[in-house]
Amino acid sequence: MTSLSFPPGFVWGAATSAYQIEGAVREDGRGPSIWDHFSHQAGTTFQGHTGDVACDHYHRYEIDVDLMAALGLQAYRFSVSWPRVQPLGQGAWNEKGLAFYDRLVDRLLAKGIAPHVTLYHWDLPQALQERGGWVVRDTAQRFAEYAERMGRRLGDRVAAIATHNEPWCTAILGHEVGKFAPGWRDPQAAVQVAHHLLLSHGLALQAMRASGVRASLGIVLNQSPATPATDGQADRAEAQRQFAAFVRWYMDPLFLKRYPTIDGRALHPVVDENDFEIMAQPLDFLGINYYTRIWASTAQPPVPAPKRQGETDMGWEIYPEGLTELLTWLHRNYRLPPVYITENGMAHPDRLVDGAVADQPRIDYVHAHLQALARAIEAGVDVRGYFYWSLLDNYEWDSGYGKRFGLVHVDYDTQVRTPKASAYWYRDFIASQRRT
Ligand code: FCB
Repeated sequence: MTSLSFPPGFVWGAATSAYQIEGAVREDGRGPSIWDHFSHQAGTTFQGHTGDVACDHYHRYEIDVDLMAALGLQAYRFSVSWPRVQPLGQGAWNEKGLAFYDRLVDRLLAKGIAPHVTLYHWDLPQALQERGGWVVRDTAQRFAEYAERMGRRLGDRVAAIATHNEPWCTAILGHEVGKFAPGWRDPQAAVQVAHHLLLSHGLALQAMRASGVRASLGIVLNQSPATPATDGQADRAEAQRQFAAFVRWYMDPLFLKRYPTIDGRALHPVVDENDFEIMAQPLDFLGINYYTRIWASTAQPPVPAPKRQGETDMGWEIYPEGLTELLTWLHRNYRLPPVYITENGMAHPDRLVDGAVADQPRIDYVHAHLQALARAIEAGVDVRGYFYWSLLDNYEWDSGYGKRFGLVHVDYDTQVRTPKASAYWYRDFIASQRRT
């Protein structure tokens, strides 16, 4: 076991999201989301996989919470499916959907596990998409109403509520690259979507605070440092450009009330007079999802990333030092609230052999990232918790069920859950931390 030690009260958890695990997409009055719509279109996902059944967590949440308790998790990050609680994204609420999250939260609390809720993990009600989705400013108002309702319903029982998960993915992968729902390829729309997501975040925080929600309120961003492939001026400028587009485009409006200027970038959103004031609501916490670094090369063909510590099954370079680099850079450049690592983990081609999964590379990945995290904390960054992505193998978006991120293996034919070696390692690690 390791000699790593973290500050007292540091929280250890695991994360999931609604569409990736719940299934039950047509049950108890749930409305369709953009991911139902997108994943059912030919050619959008690996082997046509959809989240129709996923891990069937909607029906199996009790055993899943028991699993978390057996692993000694102190916190669980999950998301609410907006169309499950408000099928059309406006108007009527679906009591059966709301009741599901009540049951989940109460079960977690009964087991001593702190619920950390995310309101938007990419599953916009399809009815709102048909009115334009996030490119339409009104969607931000709809989101604020949804946030307020969920805040009233769960806010006295959960530890934390994050508005959005990874707005960069919704904006860029969803509206510019087109590999995520709703599958647009329109860079100008993407920049407007990013703006409306941040605006909706600010409106949601205002609405939840006005209604007296007691939980900590924040947002979750995916972030990476950027390394120039060479020392040349062009690569260094490219690294800065990519970092600005990926990280600062979201951090600057939240903390500095402006967008960064990016060399060569002509696209700008339509911004109303008061928007920066709304977006920059004080945050109780900032969630950061870290997987890998950005490698910036202007050569043709590009200089490949060295991948000295290998890569994951996603092809993402394993680069734990990037977590220290990123956090210390953020700490120097913004007045950060308490930070949670809300996602970190690896896909690995796990195989169940004789009832066990030997996933030593995942253990090594987590261990190395925890060392990098401990170094950032030593350097003065106020980090309060870590959530492994993911508790369960699950529906990895356009990669379908082809990529396994879980601490717990899921057999999708039988829905049998089998903790992997990494789950037991994490359990023992958490237990060792409780003793320090
Ligand atoms: C993040 C997402 C999460 C999962 C991991 C691998 O970008 O938030 O849902 O797909 O990547």
